[in-house]
Amino acid sequence: MLTGKRILLIVSGGIAAYKSLELIRRLRERGAAVRCILTKAGAEFVTPLSLSALTEDKVYGELFSLTDEAEMGHIQLSRDADLLVVAPASADILAKMAQGRADDLASTALLATDKAVLVAPAMNVRMWEHAATQANLALIEERGVLSVGPNEGDMACGEYGYGRMAEPLEILAAIEGALQAQSGKGPLEGLRALVTSGPTHEPIDPVRYIANRSSGRQGHAIAAALAQQGAETTLVSGPSQLPDPPGLKTLHVETAAEMLAACRSALPAEIAVCAAAVADWRAAVPAQQKIKKNGAPQSLDLAANPDILAALSEAGSARPSLVIGFAAETENIVAQAQEKLARKGCDWILANDVAPETGTFGGDHNQIHLIRAEGVETWPQMTKAEVATRLCREIASTLGRA
Ligand code: C5P
Repeated sequence: MLTGKRILLIVSGGIAAYKSLELIRRLRERGAAVRCILTKAGAEFVTPLSLSALTEDKVYGELFSLTDEAEMGHIQLSRDADLLVVAPASADILAKMAQGRADDLASTALLATDKAVLVAPAMNVRMWEHAATQANLALIEERGVLSVGPNEGDMACGEYGYGRMAEPLEILAAIEGALQAQSGKGPLEGLRALVTSGPTHEPIDPVRYIANRSSGRQGHAIAAALAQQGAETTLVSGPSQLPDPPGLKTLHVETAAEMLAACRSALPAEIAVCAAAVADWRAAVPAQQKIKKNGAPQSLDLAANPDILAALSEAGSARPSLVIGFAAETENIVAQAQEKLARKGCDWILANDVAPETGTFGGDHNQIHLIRAEGVETWPQMTKAEVATRLCREIASTLGRA
């Protein structure tokens, strides 16, 4: 898997930088070529000489180095690799990545690359738990950046908690996973997946619509994870601010009726995940022209929208082998989700609490109860990307692909 692969390893500032030396050795043992960018802060922890000795290559550090640019421009440096790995990834470099800053060689290479990027965060537990760091990570994950760790444990600063960089062998496994995903050869290879995401907009007239607060973050993360695991994935997205995830086909729709039609066009598929918050009703007869204030109707006639999850569950011979829905509830979450599982005829329901105080709608995190006929499994609170990865693991093991 690693033989002949080229890894651009960015070492940023953190005591965990010593583990990156070990990572280089493990990568090289497996036949990968490693080239390093060492940030100014990183150079406080490991020397260019150690990195250079282990990579048997030059170590890059300066953005405006005439000799480096003459040898290899920073754009070429970032594209010459098969994968960029940031280990350790400090809170600062995650923030720069989230903001798209380019004020040194490392951040410039990360902005200029067209290759996959894997980060291994390492920092003090409070810095890791800070809302800013969590939001930065969630944002870059949404854009397709992969992450591994951090782990829980004693920290060099004397505190205890999450923030220790993943171990070299864990990072190695994540690198192999990322390269495998790039080759389209993950555990879900050969399977087709369909994911709905986002809200729907149901027109009242040409300028007004009925909608809800869904951001599409969870659905987009699931589609990205399925694609990374090798599934040929179609994402059917309602209106969303999110970029189309890489490595899959995105169909953009506005209304529930369009979403259903797009889903049918994406069949056959073995896996269907309905994460969209489809509007339950639409205006029965949308006005052709903007309704004027003085001519406004006293009430709005509504018509029920098609239930896409139920329709996919009942699709006869075209029914995907695994149909998964969500239940966004604000009370009696598990009981309502169990009732929904039976009513919709799907195989699993991921139930989550969307009461306003949870911040789930539009937020970075989610807390899931996985409801199946056999029982309920409660997952800890995780980022939406982590929920997506865990769901893919469950899917792979159920379909005999683990
Ligand atoms: O009935 P409720 O909206 O609570 O069910 C939520 C689940 O059903 C989600 O998986 C959602 O994507 C799906 N759904 C759908 N089409 C609808 C309504 C909900 O696919 N019209």
